[in-house]
Amino acid sequence: MKAIRIHNHGGPEVLAYEDVPVPEPRAGEARVKIEASGVNFIDIYHRIGLYPMNRPCILGSEGAGIVDALGEGVSEVKPGDRVAYAMIPGSYAEYAVVPAVKLVPVPDDIDAKSAAGIMLQGMTAHYLSHSTYPLQKGDTALVHAAAGGVGLLLVQVAKLLGAKVIGTVSTQAKADLARRAGADEIIQYTQADFLAEVKRITNGQGVHVVYDSVGATTFEKSLDCLRPRGYLVLFGQSSGPVAAFDPAKLAAKGSLFLTRPTLFNYTATPEDLAAAARDLFAVVKKKVVKISINQTYPLREAAQAHRDLEARKTTGSTILLP
Ligand SMILES: NC(=O)c1ccc[n+]([C@@H]2O[C@H](COP(=O)([O-])OP(=O)(O)OC[C@H]3O[C@@H](n4cnc5c(N)ncnc54)[C@H](OP(=O)(O)O)[C@@H]3O)[C@@H](O)[C@H]2O)c1
Repeated sequence: MKAIRIHNHGGPEVLAYEDVPVPEPRAGEARVKIEASGVNFIDIYHRIGLYPMNRPCILGSEGAGIVDALGEGVSEVKPGDRVAYAMIPGSYAEYAVVPAVKLVPVPDDIDAKSAAGIMLQGMTAHYLSHSTYPLQKGDTALVHAAAGGVGLLLVQVAKLLGAKVIGTVSTQAKADLARRAGADEIIQYTQADFLAEVKRITNGQGVHVVYDSVGATTFEKSLDCLRPRGYLVLFGQSSGPVAAFDPAKLAAKGSLFLTRPTLFNYTATPEDLAAAARDLFAVVKKKVVKISINQTYPLREAAQAHRDLEARKTTGSTILLP
């Protein structure tokens, strides 16, 4: 089969489109014929070695497709089932083997591209807004990179929960997208000081929660955007990792909360995973949350997909088709 592998960590040029053997499922695993693979920022961290990988390895953390073979003892799925999964490496390929307990069924009226686009980013938007900081009606939330993959979904879910949403974006085109997703206020943080703008919009009060996936360039000011006892949910680092931090600052800035959550811990049990996927597919089916697959590339062009994601050229979700 064809797959995108890395032999060394590095830039997009290390992504190699290669022939590799079709993997055989072991006990507890199912083999999925991949129909669509999601491209996520975590794939870049795997590629550059921020999250080191045993190499050579097939990149990709999320896929949707059809079960085509089972390892011993698998009862959760059967050949022919339409499934999707996230946070299991190896989806930039024609086939992937996945622990059967990590597969969720895909409803008939959701196509493979949408399923692959919604699993990782959608479940992230879901746990951030329902579990990490459960948004209440009337809360004000600041969502950085609001036109991104997680961002566009988080804006929509936050609005469904009754929050007021302030989004940050880098361009006018991204501002339009985030506004259409429901953001009440948009700040172009590449042109305006987002801290001053948040203070202005909230009449000096600050926000209840900041969902910060940008990291290095936003972290300090994100803390200052919070009202006393507010929550900084730092869930990514698309501009680079945050420097070492003195917890005493949380006291000085108003008894703040800081958390660095990962999807892995919020979907670790089959029950949590099934509940998040069920909720998500339900709102997509009802069309109250719209999944925006704004970039699609053939599998062999994965390197270009990475270049575009890193260069802030993408919006919404990005998909590779084998
Ligand atoms: N913890 C978790 O469970 C979890 C799960 C999923 C994703 N994440 C994290 O969430 C973040 C977003 O993931 P995503 O896949 O949805 O990506 P994305 O938000 O679609 O893309 C990244 C966006 O970050 C913004 N950005 C700001 N500074 C940047 C810089 N120097 N370089 C590149 N981008 C920059 C850009 O938006 P603007 O141009 O508008 O600034 C860019 O489009 C990533 O850090 C990812 O690792 C975490």
